[in-house]
Amino acid sequence: MSKGKFYVTTAILYTNAVPHLGHSYELVATDTLARYKRLNGYDVFFLTGTDENSLNTERAARERNMDPLAYCDEIVAHIQEIWKALNISNDDFLRTTEERHKRTCQELYRRAYENGDIYKGTYEGWYCDSCEAYYNEDELDAEHRCKIHESPARWFQEENYFFALSKYQDRLLEHIEKHPEFIQPEIRRNEIVSFIKSGLRDFSVSRAGGQWGIPTPNDPDHTIYVWFDAVINYVSGVGFADDPAKFERYWPADLHVIGKDITRFHCIYWPAMLMSTGLPLPKQVFGHGWLHLKGQKMSKSRGIYVDPIAAVKEYGADPIRYYLMREFPFGSDGDFSEENFTHRYNADLANDLGNLLNRTLTLAGRNFDQKIPAPGPVEGPDQELIDLAEATRCQYIELMDAYAFSTALETVWQLVRRANKYIDETAPWRLAQEGNRERLGAVLYNCLEMLRFAALFVEPVMPESAAEIRRQMGLDPDAERSFETLKQWGQLPVGASFGEVKPVFPRLKVTKKPAADSTDQKASAQQKKSKQPLQITLDDFRKLDLRVGEVLSAESIEGTDKLLKLKVDIGSEQRQIVAGIAQHYSPEELVGQKIILIVNLAPAKIRGVESQGMLLAAVDQDELAIVTPLKDIRPGTKIS
Ligand code: MSP
Repeated sequence: MSKGKFYVTTAILYTNAVPHLGHSYELVATDTLARYKRLNGYDVFFLTGTDENSLNTERAARERNMDPLAYCDEIVAHIQEIWKALNISNDDFLRTTEERHKRTCQELYRRAYENGDIYKGTYEGWYCDSCEAYYNEDELDAEHRCKIHESPARWFQEENYFFALSKYQDRLLEHIEKHPEFIQPEIRRNEIVSFIKSGLRDFSVSRAGGQWGIPTPNDPDHTIYVWFDAVINYVSGVGFADDPAKFERYWPADLHVIGKDITRFHCIYWPAMLMSTGLPLPKQVFGHGWLHLKGQKMSKSRGIYVDPIAAVKEYGADPIRYYLMREFPFGSDGDFSEENFTHRYNADLANDLGNLLNRTLTLAGRNFDQKIPAPGPVEGPDQELIDLAEATRCQYIELMDAYAFSTALETVWQLVRRANKYIDETAPWRLAQEGNRERLGAVLYNCLEMLRFAALFVEPVMPESAAEIRRQMGLDPDAERSFETLKQWGQLPVGASFGEVKPVFPRLKVTKKPAADSTDQKASAQQKKSKQPLQITLDDFRKLDLRVGEVLSAESIEGTDKLLKLKVDIGSEQRQIVAGIAQHYSPEELVGQKIILIVNLAPAKIRGVESQGMLLAAVDQDELAIVTPLKDIRPGTKIS
C-alpha cells in the first residue's frame, strides 16, 4: 500500500552549456532520494528539466549562428544522454520552451497581475548578466564582481514590470518561522531569514524588446523575466495546464532540491509568487553544497571540471554515484579527486562489499551446488548479526529520511564489515572440512540474507550493482522490492540457484603512490647498490619450507590500505597470513587461488594481527604479482 505521494524536483539546468559533474551531483542526490522513497512505499514523482528562456542561452546560440531553439535541442539531447548514463530515474523532463509551460507561466503571471502585485516601474542597480539578477552592493566584491561567476556586474537601469515582493516580507518570515523544516539545512534558513530582515525590494519580472522568451500576457512588447519563468516549471511539470487530476495529486511539491547559490529565488521569490497566485507553497527546499575539483570551483569555460560521461565510461555509473553520496554530507561542499575516489572504491566497494559477496557465493556455491542453503538454529554470533541488521534498517530509514545519505551509507558499511567479521568468526571453510554441513549451511544462509539486506540498502545509490548482487544470489533482480521485506529476517528462497558469480566491483589500480613510499624505495635501492649479491648453498635453500596453499578467505585490515589478511589451507592445517598486497589485489579475486607460502617463518605481528607465514610475490617497483603453481596441485605440496 502506498504511503502517499512524494513530489521531488531538481533545479532546471541552463541550456547555454553542457553540464559538468557538479550539476550531475544534484541529479544523483535527488535520484537517490527518489529511488529510496519508491522502495519505502511512496508514489514518487520526480521532475527535472531545462531552463531555456535565458538571455545567456540566446547569446550562446547566436554566437554559433544558430537558432536558439535548435541550439537548446542539441544541449537538451546531450543533457538527457548524461542523465541516462547516470541512471537518473526522473518521471518527466520539462523544457521551459514547451507549450504546457508557456501556458502555465502566462496564467500565473496573469493571476499575480490581477491580484495587483505586478506594476510598471523603473529599476536600477548592480546587475550580473550570468545570474540574470540584481545584487545589493554588499553582495559584490570590492570591484563589483559577482561572487558566483566572478565576473563584473554592471549598473543597469530599466523600465519594466515589477513584482511587489516587499508586500510579502512579513508573510514570508511568518511562514519560515512556523515551518522550520521549510528551508534546509539550517545554515541556509539563517541566510534567508537575515536577507528578508534586511528588507526586500520588488523585483523586475519582464524584459522589454526581446524576442527570446515567453511574452507577458498583458504587454506583447515584454517577455517574462527568466527567474519568474523558471521556478514556475515546478507546477507546469505536474499538469497545471494540461492534467488537473495530476496537479491535484502532486502539488504542492514535497521537496525542491537546489544548489546553495539559488536559495533566494526558491525561498523568497517563489513562495511570494505562489502566495500572490493563491497556490499552496512547497513543503521544503533543500540547498545542497557544491562539488569542487581539487579545491577549485568547477567551470567548463576555465577547463576545471569533470565530464560526467567520461567518468561513467571510466568507472561505471554506480561507483561515481556511490562516491558522490558517500564522500561528504549533502548540505556541505565537497571535493572530487580521482585519488580519493579510487581509495573509497577499493576500500568500500572492492574490499568490503565485493569481498563479502564473493567469499559468501564462492563458499556456498562450492558446498551447496550453487544454491541457497537452508537456515539452521541460531548459534554463536548469529543473533548479533541479525540484531545489527534490524538496527541498521531503522537507522538507515531515519537517516535517509533526513537526507543524510553519507551517514546512512556508513551505517550500512558497519553492517557489511560486521558480516565479514562474522565469516571469520564462524570459519565456514573449517565447517566444510569437518563435514558440519548443517552449521555450514546456516552460516552461509545468514551471510546471504545479510546480502539481501545490503543489496536493498545500496539500491537507491547503486541500482545496477544491487540488481547484479541479487542476480548472482539467485534472486529475481526485477521482483517487487520494498524495505518492508527487511522487517523479518529469513526471507530468502531456500534452493534458489545462483546466477553467474563474478566480481561486481573489480579492484581499481592505485595510480599515485603515497610520497612516503617513493622515499622508502629510494633508500632501499641505495642499500642494494652498496651490497654484493649474496650467495647461498643448497642447504641454505632447504631451510625454507615452501608449500602450496589455497586461499580460503581474504579481507582488508581496518585502518590500513595496504594489508590483507588471508586464511590459507596448507593441507595439514590452516594459516593466517598478513600480506602487503591490498593495492594490487582485491580480496575477492584471491579466494580460491593457489599460492606459494614460506610456512616455517617465525610468526610475526603486523599491525597487531598475527601472520603465520609469508606468501611469495614478484615485485617490480609499482607492480606486484603473486607467485602461483602453473598446474592445479593439492594444497600442502612441498616446493623444492
Ligand atoms: N537555471 C537555474 C535554476 C533554475 S531552477 C528553477 C540554474 N541553472 S544552473 O545550470 O546554473 O544550475 C543548476 C543546478 O546545478 C543548481 O542547483 C546549481 O546550484 C547546481 N550546480 C551548479 N554547479 C554545481 C556544482 N559545482 N556542484 C553542485 N551543484 C552545482 O541555476
